[in-house]
Amino acid sequence: MKVGVMASGRGSNFQAIIDAELRKETPDVEIIQLIVNKPEVYAIERAKKNNIPYEIIDSSKMNREEFDKEAIRIFEKKEIQIIVLAGFMRILSPFFINKYKNKILNIHPSLLPAFPGAHAHRDTLKYGAKISGCTAHIVDEGIDSGPIILQSTVEIDRDETEDSLSTKILVHEHKILPKALQLLCSGKIVLDGRKVTIKPD
Ligand code: GAR
Repeated sequence: MKVGVMASGRGSNFQAIIDAELRKETPDVEIIQLIVNKPEVYAIERAKKNNIPYEIIDSSKMNREEFDKEAIRIFEKKEIQIIVLAGFMRILSPFFINKYKNKILNIHPSLLPAFPGAHAHRDTLKYGAKISGCTAHIVDEGIDSGPIILQSTVEIDRDETEDSLSTKILVHEHKILPKALQLLCSGKIVLDGRKVTIKPD
């Protein structure tokens, strides 16, 4: 499957799916294109190092509809079939989501449906949760609300900080994101409403 990636920053999850592809752990995945919504993000360096074409669509210079249309234009040109949001910190329009219905995968640093949104670690600690983790899910029109493919948990220590929790969870994100991507690309995911079952090998 031809995979397009959208990222807004450091891109360590982008790197995780690149590495999994290089290690041949994701035989149905071919990463074809990166789109970032800001210039000078580190994800671009990762694309360059791995010879993956990238485009910058500066989201500060246009509205949501214009941004999404430009992203679709780029992905269509490359015949992208599956999209990964790898630390992509923007909401996509219903137009975009319906265009790629059940074909967009997101990684989120909490155990959804708890703590959706842009400040998952802060919200988790503020709430006093004792465990957290990450969720790989299909994107629907809501915020971090789509069908869950995989989750992984971590324990929260007494002296946990946003930084330490983020570092701890990231290790798990890098494991479940490539796995969920391979499941999606290999057609192993069966959706019944918002419930995901995984076809056995
Ligand atoms: C990751 O922790 C990802 O789960 C989170 O942003 C970080 C990006 O890191 N995404 C969200 O919070 C989406 N709501 P990365 O750029 O190193 O992959």
